[in-house]
Amino acid sequence: MEVEKISVELGERSYEVLVGASLLGRADRLLTDLLLSRGWKRVSLITDKNVGPRYSGTVAGSLSRADLEVTVASVEAGEKSKNGRTAMALVDFMARSLLARSDLVVALGGGVVGDLAGFAASVYKRGIDVLHVPTTLMAQVDSSIGGKTGVNLEHGKNLVGTFHQPVAVLCDVEVLATLAPREYASGLAEVAKYSFLMPDVFSPSIESRGEFIRDPRHPQIAQVVMTCAWIKSQVVAADERDKGPRVVLNYGHTLGHALEAAAEYEGSCTHGEAVSIGMVFAAQVAEKLGVASSGLAERHRRVLRKMGLPVRPAGPAPDFDKVAGHLAQDKKSKGDLTMVLLEEEGSPVVRGDIDLDVLAGCYARLLEAG
Ligand code: GLY
Repeated sequence: MEVEKISVELGERSYEVLVGASLLGRADRLLTDLLLSRGWKRVSLITDKNVGPRYSGTVAGSLSRADLEVTVASVEAGEKSKNGRTAMALVDFMARSLLARSDLVVALGGGVVGDLAGFAASVYKRGIDVLHVPTTLMAQVDSSIGGKTGVNLEHGKNLVGTFHQPVAVLCDVEVLATLAPREYASGLAEVAKYSFLMPDVFSPSIESRGEFIRDPRHPQIAQVVMTCAWIKSQVVAADERDKGPRVVLNYGHTLGHALEAAAEYEGSCTHGEAVSIGMVFAAQVAEKLGVASSGLAERHRRVLRKMGLPVRPAGPAPDFDKVAGHLAQDKKSKGDLTMVLLEEEGSPVVRGDIDLDVLAGCYARLLEAG
């Protein structure tokens, strides 16, 4: 398959997202222009203990062929690594690897590695180049594009972070085949989100692709990744610093974040599962407020179920008071609860000042309807 390139147009911070198969071992050839223009000499490749053993040798080998001196650091896999202590240990690793300001960090892994390595690269010597090589579907279609980096505090997720655009993103769709089914499905929730926000860009539609969307080996997956990466690139180009239209990417994330926080990020609910349930909830809120006509939530359920995603919490659901406490933390500075809703598929709107009673009623219906 050809390597497709999507441009993220951000003036002097513009970069390309490359989507294709077997890219990891070809990084040296795919990045020839950057290798010539950026003058990198040393590279710190940051990965985790699940991804590293599989792929770091291939990526490091290909970068070494471009005469780069590569050092590799591997963090524990999972959200618990996304903290300031680990980020500073990585910065220290870069210093011990003698990285100059003109050198490179490569983030090889899922969203945690991307956020963490991106953050460390953005503060080391006040910011050095970072190349993202995302290995999960969620990271390929969402978190590796757009320059958000961050670590968690005990008080909440991503409370410390920077905007630091990568120099390029390499999305090798072949690696998706080795993801655990639940992790792959978690990324499908972001795919579903894009298809609700911009259905016309998907041709054929996500719904008509049938269940093979659930097969990461299916040849059409590369095209799905490309479509999502294109949507993300357009949204980011329109609002790099997340002060306006980029907020639509939070569709489903209001309840999603609250469910994740209520589960205390223990993995009982993946990010994608929480977002999937959060999108059904948002559709119910849209119907209740008369923003959307009835049927939206049911259509969401149909599409999400087809993708193998949950439409209500599995097992005992957190009670609404607990969820509401976390929803309150999602309030915007004005003090009202703001949500991205859909008037219909393809027409997102932002609604503020949503009454807690409406949310409580929709949450109760969410649990009943599952
Ligand atoms: N993942 C949401 C954003 O990049 O804005």
